[in-house]
This record gives sequence, structure tokens and C-alpha cells, in this order.
Amino acid sequence: MTYSGPTSETAISYSETPIWDPSTYDAQRRRLVPSIDLLYGTAGDLVRRVGAARPAVLDLGAGTGLLAAAVLAAAPTARLHLFDGAPPMLAKAQARLPESAVEAVTVADLTAALPAGPFDAVVSALAIHHLEDAGKQDLFRRVHAALRPGGLFVNVEQVDGPTPGLTRLFEDLHERHARAAGSDDDEWAAALGRMAFDRCAPLADQLDWLAQAGFTAVDSVARDGRFVVYAGWRG
Ligand SMILES: C[S@@+](CC[C@H](N)C(=O)[O-])C[C@H]1O[C@@H](n2cnc3c(N)ncnc32)[C@H](O)[C@@H]1O
Repeated sequence: MTYSGPTSETAISYSETPIWDPSTYDAQRRRLVPSIDLLYGTAGDLVRRVGAARPAVLDLGAGTGLLAAAVLAAAPTARLHLFDGAPPMLAKAQARLPESAVEAVTVADLTAALPAGPFDAVVSALAIHHLEDAGKQDLFRRVHAALRPGGLFVNVEQVDGPTPGLTRLFEDLHERHARAAGSDDDEWAAALGRMAFDRCAPLADQLDWLAQAGFTAVDSVARDGRFVVYAGWRG
């Protein structure tokens, strides 16, 4: 895969199943992700607290840069490294974000090697649930290794419930939100089609995997139904 951007880059192959249209993606997110400002704003606020004058931040599955923009709103001196497998999404992110804030762009699969870092924070939103559980656990270990001591990993994630009944409840709440926010039948059907490729896991499992990866403090910090912000700090 080739990609031309104004900053440094790495290119490797990436096979992606759900395809997002960068031209409609941002508007759809506001209808499809409940409490998006609270969730992304919370992630940004955690980055603001990492205690670095110019925090180095790696955004995994950066997409069109919605999370990166929330990070910059909370921590305007952040130096961003955008990482995603889809060049059209990254092109939109680079158009959105100030050039001076984007230090590097990597086009790669989440299963590939991460940039060496060390980073003050690694952030992600709604991307890691595309990996199988073993892939999530492997990524958490590699994120831990890419952080400096005291560094933060914060993930805005779509999770399963601890039981099938609670997972169904979360799905129902999600549809109710999307419909109330204006999603029509076509948009919701397309969202369901993409979500068929998701590999969500319960929150408790993901917090356990963070602890097993070496994170010393792990917890969820904000939530709306199936959408959760959880974080871990490297001791
Ligand atoms: C739902 S979008 C989220 C984008 C952005 N973080 C946001 O919150 O708006 C998921 C992003 O993850 C990327 N992605 C999904 N699976 C990936 C993988 N295995 N490797 C690299 N990128 C992946 C997609 O290309 C897409 O840009």
C-alpha cells in the first residue's frame, strides 16, 4: 500500500474488511456513537494529565482524526503520531489537524510493529475491536512496551456485556440512540453490516488483559452503554 503524506511514514500491507467513507464518516459518527463528546473528551483530558510539556501521543486506528482532534483540544501541545491501515482516512485526518501537531503518520495494520516511542500516551478509539482477542492481548503488550514509565494507554471502545442478555441490551440501547439521533434505515443497516465484522470483548476481560500486559493501574473512566473509555498506566 502506498501513501503520500507530508510527514514521515511507513507502508505495509493491510487487509481491511469494514470500509468507511471518509466523506460521510464524521457526520455519521455523531449519530452512531452516543455521548461522543464526553467519551472522546475524557480521553483527551487523561492525555492532558500525563505531565509532559509536549506529550508524544500515538493514535492507533486514527481514522479521520476525530480522537486526535479531541486530544489536541485538551492538550494543545501534543505531538501526534497517527497510525491506521486506511490512507483515505488518514488523508482526512491530516486535512483536519494542524500540520505542526502531526509529527508522523504510519500506514500499517495494528498487528504490525508499533513505532518505537517511547510515547507519553497511546490512544485509540473504536479500532482495536477489529482484532481477535489474541490480537488485542498482543497489541496491549506492545503498547505497554511503547510507553515510557508512567505513560498512559486510553482506549475508547465498543464492548460486549458480561452475558449475552446484557450484550443484547447494549445493542438495543445503541440502536435507540442512533435512531433518536437521526440515523435512517439505510445508515443503521450499513452500520450493522460493518459491526458484523467487529470482535468485541467484555470490559472485564480487557481490563484483565491490560493488567496481564503489565499495566499497574487499570479502570474504566467513562461509559455510555456499550461505549466505554478505559485506561491503563505503565508503572
Ligand atoms: C471506526 S474507525 C475509528 C477511527 C477514529 N479512531 C475515530 O474514533 O473516529 C476504525 C479505524 O481503524 C482502522 N483499522 C481497523 N482495523 C485496523 C487494523 N487491523 N489495522 C489498522 N487500522 C485498522 C480503520 O482503517 C479505521 O480508520
